[in-house]
Amino acid sequence: MNKREWKNFKENNLKLVWRNATASWCNTLPLKSKWISFLKKNVCPEKFHYKVQKLRFWLTGKPVMPCVEYVVTTKCTMNCKHCNTFIPYFSEKSHFKPTTFEIFKKDLDILLNAVDYIDYFGFVGGEPMICKDLYKMIEYACSKKKLHHVFLATNCTILPDDKLLKAMKNKKFAVQLSDYRDVQFKNNLTVKYDEYKRLLEENNIQFSHPEEDGDRMTFISMPELYPDKQDEIKLTNLFKDCYGQYCQMLCDGILTQCTLSVYIARCMELSEGIKNELVNIRECRSAGELTKKIIKFYAKPYSEFCHYCHWENVQHGLPCGEQI
Ligand SMILES: C[S@@+](CC[C@H](N)C(=O)[O-])C[C@H]1O[C@@H](n2cnc3c(N)ncnc32)[C@H](O)[C@@H]1O
Ligand code: SF4
Ligand code: SF4
Repeated sequence: MNKREWKNFKENNLKLVWRNATASWCNTLPLKSKWISFLKKNVCPEKFHYKVQKLRFWLTGKPVMPCVEYVVTTKCTMNCKHCNTFIPYFSEKSHFKPTTFEIFKKDLDILLNAVDYIDYFGFVGGEPMICKDLYKMIEYACSKKKLHHVFLATNCTILPDDKLLKAMKNKKFAVQLSDYRDVQFKNNLTVKYDEYKRLLEENNIQFSHPEEDGDRMTFISMPELYPDKQDEIKLTNLFKDCYGQYCQMLCDGILTQCTLSVYIARCMELSEGIKNELVNIRECRSAGELTKKIIKFYAKPYSEFCHYCHWENVQHGLPCGEQI
């Protein structure tokens, strides 16, 4: 790494581990580690945490990934107009059909060999509950020491069966329940939020229900996406404050920056910059090669995907899960 890359890596990786673990959406997961809670009670916890991360990096030579969201499918039971993964706008050809346990296992093994650890590992979609192998994937993920927290985000339109409930009963696992109870559907789909929650409570499975007790969950509209070459300083500043910095996506073996990038990578014409940024974890010849690519991935000032992303007319406080 040159000096500039090291500076970016410190900001966008070493320090991101703390920022991610203490971000509000992670706070809603009740499985926050005791270590973070302990540090929070101390003076300058962020600085101390950073020094520990830096030392780990020098000792292992491997990066920590603050949050990886594994897309098990881009198919969904719902059609949210402002979906942050643009799910209703995928064509049949660009959709990623539900994956299998065998493929998931290979992907996870490849990734874990190349990193120190992954702090938050999530099953997302589309709607991950569509995937029939989900229980096996959760069991396997929870058995891995290098995964510190495992979660599932669901729209609660499909209830978990006994096999899935059994897999979820693990102290490092939690479900993030999206609250779509107020959504008006144009078909006969129903949101079973209360039943889902009751099943989790009865089985002592940890879950979060963002903002249920205060204001109800709202959506923001998504940025306009089109190929563009934007000013680098503007993009560096945008990236610094963007939620997309927090969760890297792994879809069909390709590691990308944020929820929007899955749609861009699968459905739009790609610039050379984006093509160079994509990390295909299945094509690396060795764990060492993937380690180097992941370090480079975090050593950039912003993502090449940001060039396509136009946030100017974004609206906040929209009804959650409005259907198209
Ligand atoms: C993309 S979803 C995938 C899992 C599942 N289908 C669901 O909706 O819960 C992951 C999270 O992003 C949130 N989300 C999606 N679009 C959003 C938007 N436009 N504004 C705010 N949150 C959004 C969802 O509510 C959910 O908590
Ligand atoms: S927000 Fe979730 S439920 Fe809505 S379309 Fe996107 S993936 Fe499906
Ligand atoms: S492409 Fe860049 S600006 Fe757009 S959401 Fe992702 S990280 Fe943020």
